[in-house]
Amino acid sequence: MKKRTATITAVGHYTPEKILTNADLEKMVDTNDEWIRSRTGISERRIMEKGATSDICVKAIEMLLANRKIEATEIDLIIVATVTPDMFFPATACIVQDKIGARNAWGFDLSAACSGFVYALVTGAQFIESGAYKKVLVVGADKMSSIVDYTDRNTCILFGDGGAAVLLEPSEDELYGILDHKLYSDGSGGGYLYMKGGGSLNPPTHATVDNRMHYLYQDGKAVFKVAVVGMAEVSAEIMERNKLKGEDISWLVPHQANLRIIDATADRMGLDHSKVMVNIDKYGNTTAATIPLCLSEWWQCGKLKRGQNIVMASFGAGYTWGAALMKWSLVNPEKP
Ligand code: UT7
Repeated sequence: MKKRTATITAVGHYTPEKILTNADLEKMVDTNDEWIRSRTGISERRIMEKGATSDICVKAIEMLLANRKIEATEIDLIIVATVTPDMFFPATACIVQDKIGARNAWGFDLSAACSGFVYALVTGAQFIESGAYKKVLVVGADKMSSIVDYTDRNTCILFGDGGAAVLLEPSEDELYGILDHKLYSDGSGGGYLYMKGGGSLNPPTHATVDNRMHYLYQDGKAVFKVAVVGMAEVSAEIMERNKLKGEDISWLVPHQANLRIIDATADRMGLDHSKVMVNIDKYGNTTAATIPLCLSEWWQCGKLKRGQNIVMASFGAGYTWGAALMKWSLVNPEKP
């Protein structure tokens, strides 16, 4: 029997207008532009002033639906990867389903932090490959400004808000689409990057608020050490088991947490740095949004071409990490 593969048939993204620059942060905490750029590669990030993660999702999906020229009622399933849901429940996917009028879809949220999009993409692909559904929306979106402590210089310089969506459909040609993936978790890393308060372990009280437990906490140095190895190794693993060399890959689409981690991954893969999608300078770390944001931006400007092999790779809280190999099938947007 012919194998059915899932492929991306449309993309869309949204980033809020308000820009928070390194110079702005210099006025808020003891930091400086040179430190931030040399240690992370970030120059600025976007901040959402009004609204919630679902609103980011809706704007990204609106662009996607316009690109694909379909109605929301045609969507079968919505998966939202996020660590900043509008609220614990209902799922942001349900809120999004209502806001876009996707009356025939069901949906759920997926929590895997910075690996959320890769996890959700692989999950969504299973529903296409099984034949259960034909149009699956996979969204990665985070309003990180809602959980960032803007008095903590270790973390506030890193994160930004944004979101992006892809549509998965059965590929007409099984040689295109998501061809392979490898996902990992290691829960023993949980204490290095997490939000202590608000859940069933530490429900909100005056004390949890006073102790700043509703903000994300990261031991940056500890996470860096494992992320730099984890993302590089899983990317190399996916290439090796598909017998691909650096020259066979057109794009690495890495999670955008730190330019030094991205560069190390490209080096491990034997990739020229011109083949690496990087927009961390403009957006910082948008958690679940980084990878689809790159895909959408690169496609909109015509740099992603049908037939190109791309590797998506991530590392994040959990720990969670993974990579997916895809042969891109979507043709370039028509140029006016
Ligand atoms: O996306 C999910 C996964 N997350 C990641 O992959 C992030 C991984 N970690 C990182 O990207 C890096 O560890 C950071 C960018 C967070 C930090 O870079 P680093 O090179 O590991 O710096 P560090 O934490 O070792 O700090 C070096 C120095 C320290 O001073 P001392 O102790 O050497 O005197 C910090 O206090 O830099 C200081 N520092 C700062 N200085 C200016 C920390 N934050 C700042 C800051 N501005 N914002």
